[in-house]
This record gives sequence, structure tokens and C-alpha cells, in this order.
Amino acid sequence: MKTPTVKSKDLLTVTDLSKNEILDIFKFSLKLKRETYQGKLHRLLSGKTLAMIFEKSSTRTRVSFETGVQQLGGNALFLNKNDIQLGRGESVPDTARVLSRYVDGIMIRAFKQEMVAELARYADIPVINGLTDLYHPCQALTDLFTIYEREKNLKVKLSYIGDGNNMAHSLLLCASILGVDISIASPKGYLPDKNIVERAFLLSKESGATVNITTDIDLAVENANYIYTDVWVSMGQEKEAGKRRRALSKYKISSKLLNKCPDNCVVMHCLPAHRGEEIDDDVMDSNKSIIFDQAENRLHLQKGLLCALMGS
Ligand code: CP
Ligand code: NVA
Repeated sequence: MKTPTVKSKDLLTVTDLSKNEILDIFKFSLKLKRETYQGKLHRLLSGKTLAMIFEKSSTRTRVSFETGVQQLGGNALFLNKNDIQLGRGESVPDTARVLSRYVDGIMIRAFKQEMVAELARYADIPVINGLTDLYHPCQALTDLFTIYEREKNLKVKLSYIGDGNNMAHSLLLCASILGVDISIASPKGYLPDKNIVERAFLLSKESGATVNITTDIDLAVENANYIYTDVWVSMGQEKEAGKRRRALSKYKISSKLLNKCPDNCVVMHCLPAHRGEEIDDDVMDSNKSIIFDQAENRLHLQKGLLCALMGS
């Protein structure tokens, strides 16, 4: 199987990729996953280096990218923003210019989407968004890959219950590109960004996906095959924690909600979870949870993505 190729230099948001490019990455990632389980080595990034800049904490993104690059025969550099000159005020363009002379790709987790876009604009090498306040493309691609792996087609309905945050935005766009029906239920004041919703509606016209944005949880989970949630308080929102917990308190996955869903419905979460808040322990630990499969698939999906963006 050929390494997938993509037109875009960077992955700043899922709309940088077309439906066919995403499906090619899914097929390739699945092949890499199966062969890795069989003990095959893939040295597809031999001699290449990925710089990983973090402005926020991370377990999955850091470890899955670092391990993924190593499994592909390359090297990864963990760069805490405060340990490099960027944290002392060196400009984003200069950082991009310098890193482009040393490494073959940059993965960055940042607060502002604009900062990641600026880094990509001034870098000659691929830049991958490892989460911003606005988007989390690697996680959404992984989540749809996890569904693809289970279903072999994408004729399903995904329902997201909770904050209309970075995760909701990327899931909404990714599902709309791929033709996956998606429903998002959030309380007033916490609905997904209007411009992103508009973009999703446009994309869904092309793919045939049904998009539904509502405040009504029961309506959102009707006929759902997959229900998804994310934290009420994202990284950087700690000051609003009390207000957010109150506003979002009903927008959670409990066994009561799961019982309203079809029998075959399973539960998803990007992690880290705040158990007892947006998701209850019994749901998270039940056999209806595919949450740790999602976490594992960050590794496999990103290996396919890295080959597409950084492979020769
Ligand atoms: N889901 C996710 O991105 O997890 P981390 O914050 O641990 O990277
Ligand atoms: N919405 C969460 C996702 C964490 C992976 C956050 O931004 O903190």
C-alpha cells in the first residue's frame, strides 16, 4: 500500500484534508496498526525529526506522537514552550524559520489557533495542530478512525453531549466531511461557534451528513450509535470552573442517558475525563465504553498522518 499523500502542507484543522485524503489516511493507519501488532517494523520516517512544542499539558498527544515517530524510525523532541526562547518572547515567525532549518515537522499544542497558523505560515515544514482552544483535529480524526475501524463504513450517527468546545468543533467538521450524521447538544451560551457550525452545514451538503445543533439532550441522542462527551472545563478555563459546572451539569453521559439510547450505542470520550462530572464511573468502566480504544488509536492514526505529511 502506497503512503498516502495530501495537498496541504499542514494540519491546522480537519478541513485542511479532503474526504478522500482522510479515508486514505484511515486505510493506511489501519494497515500500519495491524502490521505493528504482527511485529512488522515500518521505518518510514527514518532519519526524520519531529519537534513537539507544548504550551499546555498533555499525556496522550505527547506520548502517542513521540512513540509514533520512534516506531517509524524517526526522532521526536519535546519542547516545553517555557524551556525554549519562544517562552521568553522570541517571535513565532523566527521560531518557525529556525526550526525549519533543523527538523522535518512541528507538532504544537497552543492556546490560540492564530499562533499555530502563524507558525505554519513561516515554517517550510509541516505543522500539526496538537490542540488549540478552537480545534483538536488529531483527536477528531482518531475518533472517526475508531468508528471506521469498527464499522467498515461510516453510516452511523454520532451524538456529542457537553461543551461546544474545541473537541465539538473538530468532531463536527470531521463528521460533516466524512458524511457521518452528527448531533450536538450543549446548553445556551455553550453551543459550538456559529461560523464553524455554518461551515459544517456547507460541508454536510456535499457529503450527505445530517447535522443537528440543539440544546435538547434527548433529541440529540435519538438513534445514536455513538455518544461522546468532553470535559466541562477545558485547559485555560479554570477561572470559569464554577460557572461552567453549573451551566453544563445536565450535559453528561450517565447510565440513565445511555439507557435511552439504542442497545448497540457505545460511549466515547477524548480523555482526560473528570469522572463524576461529564461522565460517570459506571459508564466509563462499562463494556459500552470504547474510550481506551480511542486513546490507543491516537498512536495509530497519527502514524498514518505523519507518513502523509512528513514521509518522502
Ligand atoms: N486527548 C488528548 O489530547 O489528551 P492529552 O491532553 O493527554 O494529550
Ligand atoms: N477540551 C479539552 C480537550 C482535552 C484533550 C481541553 O481543551 O482541555
